[in-house]
Amino acid sequence: MTNPGLEGVVVADTRISEVDGERGRLVIAGADIEQVAGSIAFEGAARRVLEAGGADPARLSDAAFGAARAAAWEALPRLGDALDHGDGMDALRTGLAHLRAEAGEPGDVAAAVAAIGAAPVFVAAWNRRRTGHAPVAPDPALGHAADYLRMTLGRPGDAASVRALDAYLVTVVDHAMCASTFTARVIASTASDLISAMVGAVGALKGPLHGGAPGPVLDMLDAIGAPDRAEAWLLGELAAGRRIMGMGHRVYRVRDPRAAVLEEAVRPLASPRLELARAVERAAAKILRDRKPDRALAANVEFYTAVLLDAVGLPREQFSATFAVSRLAGWSAHVLEQRRTGRLIRPSSHYTGTLP
Ligand code: COA
Repeated sequence: MTNPGLEGVVVADTRISEVDGERGRLVIAGADIEQVAGSIAFEGAARRVLEAGGADPARLSDAAFGAARAAAWEALPRLGDALDHGDGMDALRTGLAHLRAEAGEPGDVAAAVAAIGAAPVFVAAWNRRRTGHAPVAPDPALGHAADYLRMTLGRPGDAASVRALDAYLVTVVDHAMCASTFTARVIASTASDLISAMVGAVGALKGPLHGGAPGPVLDMLDAIGAPDRAEAWLLGELAAGRRIMGMGHRVYRVRDPRAAVLEEAVRPLASPRLELARAVERAAAKILRDRKPDRALAANVEFYTAVLLDAVGLPREQFSATFAVSRLAGWSAHVLEQRRTGRLIRPSSHYTGTLP
């Protein structure tokens, strides 16, 4: 029987992360997400997943990621205006593809570090130019989160914002066999190069059913404006045949555990949108429960991603690319792991056309 969404199909053994959709549990290489988010920096989370994928952690020092940011900055002039066409995900895809051309045939771990270091530089530069400002050079001595925020804002972020952004980057570093990770693994399974796998994964993440939702979540909060308007607005969306962004998940049958982690991480920032977001989430969960009593549709990671990234000062146009800034580490880890199976991923289709 055809299974177009591949639900329940197991395509890999992995040590990188585990999603328990029934219990609402996410494990990142042996630790619950609640343990790691807020207690380690992004670089630590990247090391954690890459080591689980088979990389030598000695090659993944904070300094290595800082040097990769500096190398990407050196490459930036050679990209000309290539980053200036399209949205942040287009810019990231273009920048990464260029990296591939520049790097030639580096080993997987070197390519992973180069891509992880390049992403914040390219995404921040895209945003700076889009808003009429000169890009800001990275400071390799800073942490990844602090430097990304600084390159985006054009000034250092405050300590609370850097902490919150770091917690976000750790929270989304990996998520089992999501669509973009599967894409990366399919590309790796053909023995293609790691950067090509990253470029393909960015394309998969871009769609609103996957990583493209947090910008629209913020648009929704703006459109609703006040808690007492939530119900009518949400009912209008459903009546128009649209989905509620930031709600529902292919795997989780309960609230996405990352929603709770991010809701907690955003609290110290005193976001003016947090209370509204909570009210909208409550209203949306109730409406969707009434409509689909058999299908638990609760908040997913994107709901509070929108609130957190907005609170630290990132523009909504940059939200999806910020997800990718972190997930590049998870994708790379999966490429390393996929290499070891050596098996080409090649499913089948059911022909419904006519025969000659
Ligand atoms: N708003 C309204 N209805 C929704 C919904 C939402 N956010 N999510 C799911 N549904 C509905 C579906 O339309 C479907 O209805 P139907 O049976 O009448 O066609 C039903 O609930 C079951 O959907 P399901 O099979 O659980 O969805 P999925 O696994 O195909 O999709 C998502 C999962 C994430 C793509 C989906 O929930 C969605 O589009 N959410 C909004 C976008 C989003 O937040 N994306 C970020 C994901 S991390």
